[in-house]
Amino acid sequence: MNFRLVRRGRDWGWRLFLAGCLAVGAHGEGMEADEKGWRHPFFFVHLSDPQLGMDSHNAKLEPESGRFKLAVGKINRLRPAFVVIGGDMINAPPGRNQNPAQVEEFKRLAGQLDQSIPLHLVAGNHEIDPMTPETLAWYRQTFGPDWYAFQHGGCHFIVLNSMILRDPQKVPDQTRLETGWLESELKAARENGSVMTFVFQHQPFFLMSADEKDSYFNFSMDRRKELLGILKKWNVKAVFFGHLHNTLASRDGDLECYITGSVGKALGPLARCGMAIVKVYRQRLTYDFYPLESVPEKVELGASEEKPQ
Ligand SMILES: [Fe+2]
Repeated sequence: MNFRLVRRGRDWGWRLFLAGCLAVGAHGEGMEADEKGWRHPFFFVHLSDPQLGMDSHNAKLEPESGRFKLAVGKINRLRPAFVVIGGDMINAPPGRNQNPAQVEEFKRLAGQLDQSIPLHLVAGNHEIDPMTPETLAWYRQTFGPDWYAFQHGGCHFIVLNSMILRDPQKVPDQTRLETGWLESELKAARENGSVMTFVFQHQPFFLMSADEKDSYFNFSMDRRKELLGILKKWNVKAVFFGHLHNTLASRDGDLECYITGSVGKALGPLARCGMAIVKVYRQRLTYDFYPLESVPEKVELGASEEKPQ
């Protein structure tokens, strides 16, 4: 929890304070349950890459800011259990002139999210560029923890900083710390009877197949194998990514992998700006990506045998 942010803009500070209350295990502080045991199906929203300033190369905040604002309004109507923003909140990295305005606008719009809906942020490459101890410190001061965990409805949710894991040579101490914490958190989730465990990070391990060639958008094969091995060893149910600005679903064995397209700017002829609604049932989930104009008016959890008790 970054207490400095609580003293800044009232809405944003309150938002991070709420997320901080629900987050557990951040930076190895150990797991404690805020909501233990399965109760009933629930849903959350995963959106990614608002990336304010992307389309204009940082000349202005539109059109990304308008799309993000639209998404916030739709989320307020849907009332999910929580929201995860999968990284690249802004386009201009720290140190660029346009960065402060983009950060301010992101926080202003995110602050319009209904205050009863917890918001969890994932660090993206545009916030930590280049990866140095200084840019990492800037991220933590500006947005809060970059790797942490929280619980909801008997499930465990782990947020990772994929830049640290992807390029261990840049901040090797942080890579060791985060990887060690991930294993201990997964172990604790199992020992505490987590119904399912989910992971969020910005950059995908792979796009279509775990054995695909290395590229800009995925992890190198050695890093990919090591981290997928950890997640599968502890039976993580699903991992959610952003970064691609397009939507893809794949799997590696039993591990479900979802790349959520950008809410701010889509890339690719078939890509659309939108957000994903993830319904969580006991031992299974459904994932649906909706273009912004097609987001449903309400979410039905269905399945009579799994209705809230
Ligand atoms: Fe990215």
